[in-house]
Amino acid sequence: MTFAHIKGTGSALPQRILDNAGLERIVDTTDEWITRRTGIKERRIAMMDNNESTTELGSLAARRALEMADIAPEEIDTIITATVSADRIFPSAACMIQRELGAENAAAYDVSAGCSGFVYALEMANNSIKAGVAKTVLVVGAERLSSLVNWQDRGTCVLLGDGAGAVVIRADETEGGILSTHIKSDGRLWDLLYSESGNQPPPESLKGLATTPFHLRMEGNRLFKQAVPSMANIAELALQKNGMTRDDIHLVIPHQANIRILQAVAEKLKISMEKFFTNLDRYGNTSSASIPIAMDEAFRIGRMKAGDHVLLVSFGAGLTWGATLLRWSIPPS
Ligand code: COA
Repeated sequence: MTFAHIKGTGSALPQRILDNAGLERIVDTTDEWITRRTGIKERRIAMMDNNESTTELGSLAARRALEMADIAPEEIDTIITATVSADRIFPSAACMIQRELGAENAAAYDVSAGCSGFVYALEMANNSIKAGVAKTVLVVGAERLSSLVNWQDRGTCVLLGDGAGAVVIRADETEGGILSTHIKSDGRLWDLLYSESGNQPPPESLKGLATTPFHLRMEGNRLFKQAVPSMANIAELALQKNGMTRDDIHLVIPHQANIRILQAVAEKLKISMEKFFTNLDRYGNTSSASIPIAMDEAFRIGRMKAGDHVLLVSFGAGLTWGATLLRWSIPPS
């Protein structure tokens, strides 16, 4: 049997910090409202002058993951990038990242599954490794949602941030690594979170931000109500499929959308919030990048060790949601 093991993790965050006080100067909001309703205190904003395109952030995260795995770019068979904010409509962000890395032997493509993109991409990586199609797969979640934000819409601009995370996955006969992946969609509810045409300029304080002719539109309240049961149910499914209970889980790494969503999911699953890794206070919702950034931080600060069971769970536009159950493979350095 072949198993897909994560051998390295990496992340890259833009330098520019936009805190809630900064947002108070852009829209009619308060630090108190944002903190209480979302748990977010600050987010990172990618500036083109700082070489922080989606491609550049994704490539930096990938280089860090490759370095940890001690794997050369030429060894990569497949690059899958989860993103809804690639620098261009085409070519894919994955092909742009391939060029940056010099990963000349790889096939590269993007996955669009909203904030669930990384979990969807992990499913593809796992399937292609299990099928013997690829031996080494680089999965990147890279986003620059600041380019899609309507900076006049206080209901959304306070939630989002930019960044990238990556993992290198390798085929191995040792039992463990990715134990199962589960993905689901409901296109009937696409209009709870989508992009529409629009090009309001960014505020003066964020001059130099890359923009697109699209804005993100969201029905936050209805989305919230969909997110909680969907995430909880798919997490339960992952446990059941592996014959595990909540006590077997060492750490949950969820998509970082809103602390209240995570508290409600934790309550439904009867898993203590202490087992939920969160960094949304510092980065906000970075869509497909949120889980790989959190995974990289959690590992580097010693929150998980080889042999620990780690549950990833996501929810996003589409609607899409998913879960991955892992037995962590990387020993501490
Ligand atoms: N600052 C101050 N007030 C704000 C505000 C802001 N940034 N954004 C919205 N409000 C106001 C609204 O205008 C509304 O005012 P009203 O009662 O006078 O009409 C009030 O706050 C409540 O708005 P509502 O949208 O019902 O708040 P909420 O409790 O649902 O919280 C979200 C809003 C967006 C934080 C919440 O719905 C959420 O997190 N949803 C999920 C979003 C998400 O996860 N999206 C990504 C999925 S991957």
